[in-house]
Amino acid sequence: MNMADVILGVQWGDEGKGKIVDSLAKNYDFVVRFQGGHNAGHTLVIDNVKYALHLIPSGILYPQCKNIIGNGVVIDFQALDSEMQQFERLFSTTQNFHSTTGTLSSNSCLIDRLFISNRAHIILPYHVALDRFIENNRAKTKGLEAIGTTGKGIGPSYSDKVSRNGIQVGDIFDEEILHTKLQANLVNLAHLPLAFDIDSMLSEMRGFAKRFAPFVADTTQILWESTRNNKRILLEGAQGSMLDIDHGTYPFVTSSHTGIAGALSGTGLNAHDIDSVIGVMKAYCTRVGNGIFPTELHDEAGRFLQQKGMEFGTTTGRPRRCGWLDLVAIKHAIRFNGCTKLAIMKIDVLDTLHEVKVCVGYEYEGEVIDYMPYNLNVKPIYKSFSGWNGSARVREFSKLHANAKRYIEFIEEYTGSKVWLISTSPEREDIIEIP
Ligand code: IMP
Repeated sequence: MNMADVILGVQWGDEGKGKIVDSLAKNYDFVVRFQGGHNAGHTLVIDNVKYALHLIPSGILYPQCKNIIGNGVVIDFQALDSEMQQFERLFSTTQNFHSTTGTLSSNSCLIDRLFISNRAHIILPYHVALDRFIENNRAKTKGLEAIGTTGKGIGPSYSDKVSRNGIQVGDIFDEEILHTKLQANLVNLAHLPLAFDIDSMLSEMRGFAKRFAPFVADTTQILWESTRNNKRILLEGAQGSMLDIDHGTYPFVTSSHTGIAGALSGTGLNAHDIDSVIGVMKAYCTRVGNGIFPTELHDEAGRFLQQKGMEFGTTTGRPRRCGWLDLVAIKHAIRFNGCTKLAIMKIDVLDTLHEVKVCVGYEYEGEVIDYMPYNLNVKPIYKSFSGWNGSARVREFSKLHANAKRYIEFIEEYTGSKVWLISTSPEREDIIEIP
């Protein structure tokens, strides 16, 4: 029997995956992060309180749910420590947290609920410095442009992994090995105008080894055992398909496989373990960082989406670029991920607009195409829809305005993928489910 469902973004990240994972997590025994690092940011709003999650899977707010940071993730221990402390404090001081859902009780704690793969790779101070160094260098090079990374050391940590110089979580428990590997890596960086102190890194890692030892495990074995015991698993993607290292808008992408391939390689599960793949998209489109964005708006409508949608990065606070929905890009993402159904977020943000547009094709080298070409040097072709009002907080499809229904039905028609969930506000309960 297939035990795992995958949730992943089908745009440039920030689709609102956190809310979907959060609302589904109660049905699962495990929620698993499989790629990326603390460049990701999921904001959960529960009873008007905001929770920012960067590395810890969104199932952490449900006591029945075990949470795994899988082997495909890159971990900054400092960031993880702060995030864990936030929940440790919350759990130790809160009596029956969330009266509406009864999700947590006062004796909840993270041990036995959070597992960190011993195969995951670590982000070290030199990765962060290198990230910034490489970005500056790109920005200064004629003909190139900075990627606009989050500056968190994600790319350099994955580079070390692929070039087989990475330091894995399991390495921090053997100081001799750790010392040898760190020293060799610093030799590789010696030609750069950057300075690193190996002793302070070792001493920091010594502290982290103590702190994280109760959480480190062979998470692949845990997952294999859980599939043998018919446990339900939710795999939680970070970033989005258009930021995928292979299938996104390279080089303006992140350094991991954000799609279905990452869900398998970043956990140890195989294709037969997967039941459904849920593609999460916003009702419009946003992007943070540089790189081509065919439907980007530089006008009043773009500013409207940014303000009303509160489109500012959870991790970096950067304003997100906003634009109309690009269905060509979404179809591309649905195809390479094998999405079985879609969740559409933030439909309420479009309320009050007189006209809503959707990109249904590209003009490319004098032709009209409906796929993403290699260089994406395209002009979008739009279909226009009459606007609507009143979708905020609606929980039944029949109660949506006819124009909003038409918009959603068109998305289904164009993509050939079923729309399963529609989110109508940031609140956990404001979701329409279409059976
Ligand atoms: P990096 O992942 O920090 O290397 O950044 C590479 C690109 O991915 C940049 O354009 C970032 O803005 C983007 N990016 C990384 N993480 C996220 C995310 O969680 N949401 C949206 N964009 C992201």
